[in-house]
This record gives sequence, C-alpha cells and structure tokens, in this order.
Amino acid sequence: MRRKLAAGNWKMNGTLAELSELGALQGAAGGNAEVLICPPVTLVASAAANAGAIAIGGQDCHSAASGAHTGDVSAPMLRDAGATYVILGHSERRADHGESDALVAYKTQAAWAAGLTAIVCVGETLDERESGKTLDVVGRQLAASLPDDVTGANTVIAYEPVWAIGTGKVPTTNQIADVHGFMRSALIQRFGTDLADTIRLLYGGSVKASNATEIFAVADVDGALVGGASLKATDFAPIVDALNN
Ligand code: 13P
Repeated sequence: MRRKLAAGNWKMNGTLAELSELGALQGAAGGNAEVLICPPVTLVASAAANAGAIAIGGQDCHSAASGAHTGDVSAPMLRDAGATYVILGHSERRADHGESDALVAYKTQAAWAAGLTAIVCVGETLDERESGKTLDVVGRQLAASLPDDVTGANTVIAYEPVWAIGTGKVPTTNQIADVHGFMRSALIQRFGTDLADTIRLLYGGSVKASNATEIFAVADVDGALVGGASLKATDFAPIVDALNN
C-alpha cells in the first residue's frame, strides 16, 4: 500500500515570517496522507525545527557530499539541517541550470547516500506534447534519471508537464492517467512488479483545491507536488484534506 503524499514546493519564495504557515498546516497534517514542505534552503533548518507532523525537504542538492562548489548545498547538509526529502530534476532546474538526466541520477544517488528520499521530476514541454512525444520524453527521463537501486522508500516520482506549471492549465484526467499508467508500466518493466508497486507517483502542475479531488481519483496518482498553492496553509490544507479522504 503506497502512502499518499502531499508535497509543497515553495520554490524561491519565503522568509522566516512565512514559516508560520507550517503551524497553520498542522491541523491538516498527521492524517493518512504524508505532508511535506520544501522551502528554500535558507529556511530548511528553521522549518525542520518547527515542523511538527510535517516533513521538510530541499529543492535541489549537489551530486558531491562536500567540496569546492561555491553556492551549492549537499545532500548530507540538507539531512543535517533536518530534511528528509529532496526534489531533484525539477523542470525549472533542468531549464535554468541545464541539468541533464545523468546529473539528476548522480544527485539521486547522493540523496540516497545521505538518507534522503529523492523526488525525481519528469515532464514534457508544450512543444513535445503537441508533437506527440510526451511518452518518449517521460520514458527517456525516467530511464536515465533513475539509478538502479530505486526503492519505494528512497524515491518518489513526480510527473510535472512543463506547460502546466504555474499556468493554471491542467492536463485532462485521461492525459494524467495515460502518463501515470505508462510510468507504472515502465517501472514494472525495469524493476519488477513488487518493487514498482511501492513507488509513489505524484502529479504536479497547477494543482489547486478546486481540481485536487478529481486529480487524486486518477489511477496511479499517489499525491501531488504543489507549487503556488502550497505557499499558504489556507490553500494547501484543502489539497491535503482531498488526499486524506
Ligand atoms: P504550480 O503548482 O505553481 O503549478 O507548480 C508546480 C510545481 O512546479 C511544483 O514543483
């Protein structure tokens, strides 16, 4: 049985004052679904110290554990600050920082070595969808971004169509079902049914309270990775509730 996961990605938003949102979210956390907030790295330690029933994660890590990499943060550092998860290969990092599938795989191994659960992101651009390449792209990203030693405990996959992120555009439930079903099959083919069945698949891209229930009813959707609607507890709590129901 896969435990549902409501994950919030605050991206480059939030100062110490916004950590009060974690307090306001406690009522929704602690139910059947796991609740995770990934604040900017400056807030990880403070968030983890006040997390209550909420898990805290990073938004990226370096593939090395330490060294001469100015401005970067390593997986052991995130773990030391109290994080238990890290988002890797988000499309904004793939686009803004040229992250390749191979780099994402190295980062995933670094996350595992530090005891973090990696949330590995995949998803097609609008051009790729319109030219019928969605499953090719997602299949390639999945194959090349995931190292061999995946387990349901060390890895979560997030399907985030790039064109749905921050746009208010959401794929149809059939489109989500197609990609999630395809990802489950690809995982079964590579890792076998028993292991593949333990890996949680999140949907991300313009998830809101108003569309969460419909999205969570789709087969093989085990939760959501939420951007904008995770910044305020009043927006995120109803999404968590929809997953708890
Ligand atoms: P939005 O929910 O703001 O569309 O962002 C989704 C996302 O990129 C989460 O990682």
